[in-house]
Amino acid sequence: MRGAGDNASDTVRNTLGTVPGYGGTMVTRRAVVTGASSGIGEATARMLRARGWDVVAVARRADRLQALEAETGAVAFAADLTVEGDVDALAVWLAESGPVHALVQIAGGARGADRIEDGDAEQWRWMFEANVLSTQRLVAHLLPLLRRAAASDGHADTLFVTSTAAQTAYQGGGGYNAAKAAEAMLVKALRLELNGEPIRVSEIAPGMVRTEEFSLRRLGGDTAAAESVYDGVENPLTAEDIADVIAYALDAPGHVNLDLVTVRPVAQSAQHLLARGPLHVREG
Ligand SMILES: NC(=O)c1ccc[n+]([C@@H]2O[C@H](COP(=O)([O-])OP(=O)(O)OC[C@H]3O[C@@H](n4cnc5c(N)ncnc54)[C@H](OP(=O)(O)O)[C@@H]3O)[C@@H](O)[C@H]2O)c1
Repeated sequence: MRGAGDNASDTVRNTLGTVPGYGGTMVTRRAVVTGASSGIGEATARMLRARGWDVVAVARRADRLQALEAETGAVAFAADLTVEGDVDALAVWLAESGPVHALVQIAGGARGADRIEDGDAEQWRWMFEANVLSTQRLVAHLLPLLRRAAASDGHADTLFVTSTAAQTAYQGGGGYNAAKAAEAMLVKALRLELNGEPIRVSEIAPGMVRTEEFSLRRLGGDTAAAESVYDGVENPLTAEDIADVIAYALDAPGHVNLDLVTVRPVAQSAQHLLARGPLHVREG
């Protein structure tokens, strides 16, 4: 098991397949997928592996990453992205183990649904650490590796999963709205800063995605409250729906940049307008 405490001269995994690179050459591309221990990140790691990518799967829970590695060949690297030393160790290990063609930053989440006046400083701090500061830290450490891959193989990718909460405020969303909006602004600024380099910067902003842990963690482990978020909603998005969009963005020709893709379930026309109950065709 690789992790932040490891020496960098660890196993280099073999590759499953190759995909067409920029200019028609065939190269195996390697993606670093964060948040790979559950939900959207795990689904993305699986999907990229199935599409021939080499994947480095990053999160804190080593046991879940190991199970994913055994099943899919996505190489597990346990790291807490809020810890500078962990991300530094990840970057060192990556530099010695192969190229990095894509940073797919999915790790993050929400904590709490309180009104702003009742907000818990610890929860707000967690959201800014996990969604914003970790993203900056990853970019700072991995950009030199992405540049190296872009120089040799034509282009590289950065892709960030923000949220529709970055676009529209809602009651009880203050901390998450603020953190995801900050992350989205970071992404937009990064795209400007990388202008002129063959490095894509994509933002995927999902609406309601029914994953096992997102609402549970947000609502302090209250299963009933977490379930009720999806009450009566016909077909919330799944983690695989988002993974599919991510894979499309990464596999698109290297000159095509999906700047911002907002993805919602059909039942959610807007942050404030969610149909509960079966969708039905209006008569007449
Ligand atoms: N589900 C939704 O409705 C929805 C909608 C819009 C956007 N999003 C965003 O999509 C992303 C994934 O959401 P999800 O639904 O898949 O939630 P999830 O299942 O709770 O996944 C969160 C992932 O982030 C990892 N993570 C959290 N803190 C970390 C840290 N300090 N260091 C390393 N990894 C960390 C977790 O792994 P460990 O606990 O093992 O570290 C986990 O793999 C989040 O950024 C979320 O804000 C979700």
